[in-house]
Amino acid sequence: MSEATVLAIRDLVVEHRREKSRETFRAVGGVSLEMAAGDTVGVVGESGSGKTTLAMAATGLGPRTSGKIDLLGHDLDRLSRRELRRLRPEVQVVFQDPHGSLDPRQSVRSGFSELRRLQPERTAWVDDTELLAQVRLGPEVLSRYPHQLSGGQAQRVCIARALLMRPRLIVADEPTSGLDVSVQADVLDLLNESLASSGASLLFISHDLAVVRNVCDRVVVMLHGEVVEAGPTYQVLDDPQHDYTRKLLAAMPGSRWRASR
Ligand SMILES: Nc1ncnc2c1ncn2[C@@H]1O[C@H](COP(=O)(O)OP(=O)(O)OP(=O)(O)O)[C@@H](O)[C@H]1O
Ligand SMILES: [Mg+2]
Repeated sequence: MSEATVLAIRDLVVEHRREKSRETFRAVGGVSLEMAAGDTVGVVGESGSGKTTLAMAATGLGPRTSGKIDLLGHDLDRLSRRELRRLRPEVQVVFQDPHGSLDPRQSVRSGFSELRRLQPERTAWVDDTELLAQVRLGPEVLSRYPHQLSGGQAQRVCIARALLMRPRLIVADEPTSGLDVSVQADVLDLLNESLASSGASLLFISHDLAVVRNVCDRVVVMLHGEVVEAGPTYQVLDDPQHDYTRKLLAAMPGSRWRASR
């Protein structure tokens, strides 16, 4: 593993215990994945295929049954809680529902202030107005509360909050699927621009292959908790080897792929 490795996942297994029973359910069944600095990797697969579970375990935010995770050069098994907390700002997660990620009692400005108080040195590189400009929002947004923001604006604020921390890895879990189609492309453009200027790596979770094509250099296709296909995006999308990938592609509007079943 080279120094520039941002994330290395080896044989990750995550089992969830079903409520009201002793049964366990294998949400992720032996996944390996490596990301270098600057990589943009898409994880695609149908609902329930284990994408979110994988991302949460990879960042140390979710449970892991077995397997190794190396995050920004640190073996998660060897990190104390305190060390993990110190690593937190370097790994930012953007979730599907922006309103659910923002504190409803906090204006945009006081949300930024809180982050600045927690990480004064890390966040000193930019002022609030410039930060908002980077996500194409005007300074008038600073005094607003989350309920006064549209879905697209709220997601821009979430991305701004992530960028403020100058993360080395951004994990975006369906960041645009809760948004109106008309603003989805805008938010994705923004994410692309931010990555280009910050050099952060991106683990991008989506069920939408068209989106992944626009954002990611590599793609991992998951089915029932396992990786069925992985490779450069153009290769996987233009010349899919697995029937499940073909099926996903066939579901895309205007696709030339037809699933065999
Ligand atoms: N906390 C939990 N307890 C029990 N089962 C869970 C838990 N979280 C997820 N699961 C189950 O694990 C499987 C994978 O879930 P996960 O949320 O990772 O899928 P996903 O690919 O992100 O789906 P979606 O596209 O709908 O977000 C699902 O069958 C889900 O029901
Ligand atoms: Mg999910």
